Amino acid sequence: MKAIVCTKYGPPKALKVEEVPKPQPKDGEVLIKVHCTSVNDYDWSMVRGKPFLYRLLFGITKPKRQIPGMELSGTVESCGPDATKHQPGDAVYGDTSDVGFGTFAEYITLQEKALTPKPQNMSFEEAATIPHAALLAYQGLVEMGQIQNGQTVLINGAGGGVGTFGLQLAKMYNCEVTGVDTGDKLQTMKAFGFDHILDYQSKNFTRTGQKYDLILDAKTCFSPYAYLRSLNSKGRYVTVGGKLIRLLQLTFQKGLIKRLTGKKLKILPLKPNKGLEYINQLFEEGKLKTIIDGPYPLEKAPWAIQYFGDGLHKGKVVINVSESH
Ligand SMILES: NC(=O)c1ccc[n+]([C@@H]2O[C@H](COP(=O)([O-])OP(=O)(O)OC[C@H]3O[C@@H](n4cnc5c(N)ncnc54)[C@H](OP(=O)(O)O)[C@@H]3O)[C@@H](O)[C@H]2O)c1
Repeated sequence: MKAIVCTKYGPPKALKVEEVPKPQPKDGEVLIKVHCTSVNDYDWSMVRGKPFLYRLLFGITKPKRQIPGMELSGTVESCGPDATKHQPGDAVYGDTSDVGFGTFAEYITLQEKALTPKPQNMSFEEAATIPHAALLAYQGLVEMGQIQNGQTVLINGAGGGVGTFGLQLAKMYNCEVTGVDTGDKLQTMKAFGFDHILDYQSKNFTRTGQKYDLILDAKTCFSPYAYLRSLNSKGRYVTVGGKLIRLLQLTFQKGLIKRLTGKKLKILPLKPNKGLEYINQLFEEGKLKTIIDGPYPLEKAPWAIQYFGDGLHKGKVVINVSESH
């Protein structure tokens, strides 16, 4: 089968499509014919081995897993011993980040728990954009942020996957939503329904004097004290990712901040695939849409990872692997 293979850390352009053996499902696993996958922050970091701390996860000197890619949609081709949840022919999708990555390939074997049935009205392209970003937004805004009807919400780094889903979830709670990002993405965000947009290159949202009930951050880049300025009393701030140094500051200072100010600053550790049944329901009811950049063929995956890293994408960058079958 064809796959993108990464044997050493370096620029995405060094990656190539190679022929590798088709895997066989073991106990509790299924073999999936991959239709689509998408590009994520993990791919950008895993391929380059940067930031260095990520190598604790991916391998110190070279990648432990040689095929990148974490989200997929596809069809179950066969089931291994003791795999009973899905049948051959089932259309499924999921986030593989806690079961080993490897979706930039024509086939992958996976533990059944990483897969959820794909609704009929969701295309394979759409499905590949959903599990990671939609659940970061859902777990961040709803579970950890405890979003309430009519709140003022700000999403920082709102032009990507998390922002797209975050806006739609916040609108289900009739919230007034501000999105922060830059460049061409701002027009797409306005058209998609953000009430207010801010360009982070020309405005620091923590210095405008405006306060919010809930902040969801996909790109934590300020100190915890800067976020405090932008929160109403009893306001909540939830980050899903960002600069390591800022996340460390948050980890060590959030307890004291809560005691002194009553404001809650939280870091979301994603629980992969938890809540996808609810996301399916929203999608079936027509309440969730995705913004797709692409789809691009597997051969363009190295270019697509660089394109993502350069911040030129809008919404989720989709790779249609089945086009190369
Ligand atoms: N919590 C967890 O367990 C977990 C697990 C995996 C990943 N993550 C994290 O979750 C986040 C994924 O978000 P996503 O999929 O929406 O990413 P994304 O598609 O890359 O979107 C992030 C957006 O933020 C913009 N941005 C960059 N710097 C910014 C700044 N200083 N201020 C405001 N916006 C800025 C980016 O613009 P440019 O592209 O122009 O820079 C991009 O449009 C990442 O931070 C990732 O590391 C979390």
